[in-house]
This record gives sequence, C-alpha cells and structure tokens, in this order.
Amino acid sequence: MDYSISNDINDINKRLLDEGVSFENKTILVTGGTGFLGSWVCDVLVKQKANCICLDNYASGSKDNIIHLINKNNFRFIYHDISKPIYFGISSHPNGICLSNIKKIDIVMHMASRASPFEFKDFPISILKSNTLGTMNALGIAKTHNALFFYTSTSEVYGDPPDDAIPTPESYFGHVNPVGPRSCYDESKRAGEAFIKAYELQHNLETKIVRIFNTSGPRIRYGPEFGRVVPNFIYQAINDLDITVFGDGSQTRSFLYVSDQIEGILKMVYNDNAIGEVINIGNDKEYTILELANVIIELTNSNSKVIFKGLPIDDPKRRSADIKKARNILNWEPKTPLKEGLKKTIQWFREQHKGN
Ligand SMILES: NC(=O)c1ccc[n+]([C@@H]2O[C@H](COP(=O)([O-])OP(=O)(O)OC[C@H]3O[C@@H](n4cnc5c(N)ncnc54)[C@H](O)[C@@H]3O)[C@@H](O)[C@H]2O)c1
Repeated sequence: MDYSISNDINDINKRLLDEGVSFENKTILVTGGTGFLGSWVCDVLVKQKANCICLDNYASGSKDNIIHLINKNNFRFIYHDISKPIYFGISSHPNGICLSNIKKIDIVMHMASRASPFEFKDFPISILKSNTLGTMNALGIAKTHNALFFYTSTSEVYGDPPDDAIPTPESYFGHVNPVGPRSCYDESKRAGEAFIKAYELQHNLETKIVRIFNTSGPRIRYGPEFGRVVPNFIYQAINDLDITVFGDGSQTRSFLYVSDQIEGILKMVYNDNAIGEVINIGNDKEYTILELANVIIELTNSNSKVIFKGLPIDDPKRRSADIKKARNILNWEPKTPLKEGLKKTIQWFREQHKGN
C-alpha cells in the first residue's frame, strides 16, 4: 500500500479506537468496495479485524485499490453487479447467484454507484440501476440477515438550493431537475433513499443514510475526462495544462479530505443514535471554484493558466454542508484544512506519475 495512505488509515483507526469505535469480528458487506471511498472503508475494516466482504463490478473502481488486501484472511472480494440479485447463506435461489458459505452478514454498506459527472452522460442507466435495483438488492440482503443497512447518498439530492438553504441542512427537501442531464444520479439517489425508508417502515429494518458532500484524496480517479473538480484541477496543474473553470468561477463548493469522510462514515455506521437518521458528512466552509483553482496552482507550483468555459446545465451555484447533526450525534467535524488535504492528494498524484 502507498505510504501516505497507510499513514492515514492508521490515523483513522486511532481516531475511531479513541472513541471506542471497533468493528472487530463483524461481518460487513461493502458494495462498491474497490472504488475511491469504498476501498478506504475496506482498508479500515480489515485493519480493525472485521470480516470485510468487498463486492464490486469494477464499473469505476480498480483492482489496484484492494490488491494489497486480497491475501488477508479477513478480506474477500466478490465480482458482481449489485443491480442483479445475489444471496448469502443459502445454496440456491431461482433469481440470482448464491454464496452459501457466507452464513451471516451483520452490516450492509451499499456504496456502489458511479459518482463522477462525466459518467452521467455515458452511463446513466447503470447509475440509475445501482441506486434503485442495487439498493433494493442490498436491502434484501440486509433484510434476510437482519443486518444494519447503511447507504452512501449524496449532497446532490439537494439539487440547486436557494441561498437561505446554505449551508444545507438534512431537512431541506431539494430543488432537483428530474429530467436534466444529472437526474440519473440525483434522482436515483433520492429513489434509493425512498427504498430505504420503505424497508424501514415495512420490515422494521435498521437503516442509516449518509449524504456525502464533495470529498477527495488519494485513490480518487483522475484524468482530463473524469469530471470531479479537485482531481481535474490537480491533473491539469501538475501537467501544466489550462485549468478549466466552468462559468465565471464564482460558484462555491465545500471540500472534505478523504480521511475525515471515512472517519465520519464509520462513526455513523457504529453509532446506535444514528439509526433511522439521515446525516450530512461534508465541510461547512465554502470556497469559490476560482479560489480552489488558484490554491491548486500555488501548491503545485504550476505554470497553468485558468480558462473559462460554459457552465454545465443544472450545476449547483452553491454547496456547503450544514453539519450540526454530525457534530451532535456523531461528535464529528472536519479536521483536515483544505491545503493539507490538497497537499496529500497532490503528493499521491505525483507518485502515480513517477516514471511516466
Ligand atoms: N466522492 C464523493 O465526493 C462522493 C460524494 C457524494 C456521494 N458519494 C457516494 O459515495 C459512493 C462511493 O463514491 P466514490 O467517490 O468512491 O466513487 P467511485 O466511482 O470511486 O466508487 C464507486 C464504486 O462502485 C462500483 N460500482 C458501480 N456500480 C456498481 C454495480 N452496479 N455493482 C457493483 N459495483 C458497482 C464501482 O466499480 C466503484 O468501485 C457512491 O455511492 C457515491 O454516490 C461520493
């Protein structure tokens, strides 16, 4: 494993153990476990001596993110598309594949979904399926095993909130275009949340929904086409390419470093007071996109110039998380300053490019 990542994993583990958060001996299914956030979750769970079952179809994940875990006896990888049924602990089922040797699952963490704006155009149906059929299948597993169900929803369920809903609390219902270019993601996450509430009501399932705000760090996918602002800007800056800012750059976002996000997620999974709750995990500090571009140019010592392009349709004007619930229920708040998180991410990017 990359050195800076393993330091961060140790740090997250320490922060969790300091507050008594341990998943030792729990069997936890992580869908989307080879992706950016999912692989960090798997790393911490394996470190904590949980039995971690990582399910993924490599839609936007990578074997490289979990290769160091493959030979651990408390880690198992299952190649599967979660929008198709899968059953654990039984030997046959007419509707899908069965893994009879995994007898009991304690927690289902449904994280599988492509999440980059560029993918909304190329893979809208698979995104819709992951968050609707995939959520239903993952809920079915939780129901069969009487397991806790945890879902990674998104700040995008809020759409484009008005200024008086910034920072955005969980109680804001959203302002979302159901037929726009982003609707496959925004609306399927909303439908995923509705599925969860239905299983909670009808089957008394214990469920938790985290709404994740913009998070980045090592292992985030990067390249000119991946469409997430932080990796895009870093990629452009370290290659001295033009930095493409959409609109005039005055739109805002709030940025969280990955280790803060993973700590928040795992604290929420662990905490019984979060059962039945929806909680934002993100940052409440807003930066304009132009500010972000300039910070990244400074930190990378880049010769890149900022250029401006048209604003994408339905792009939210402001994004900032109201994190009062996370503070009160989870005793969680962001710890990593923007520049520190960016520096670690930039260092990881540079390591990926060594020898190229
Ligand atoms: N990173 C963020 O800032 C952010 C923000 C909001 C929400 N989220 C949510 O967090 C979760 C993880 O996001 P990420 O940033 O790690 O994205 P990612 O694309 O790196 O990871 C998603 C993972 O899900 C897998 N996957 C996708 N469809 C699948 C399917 N049908 N069956 C099995 N596996 C499938 C992919 O292969 C990948 O490994 C997603 O649900 C995403 O919507 C992330």
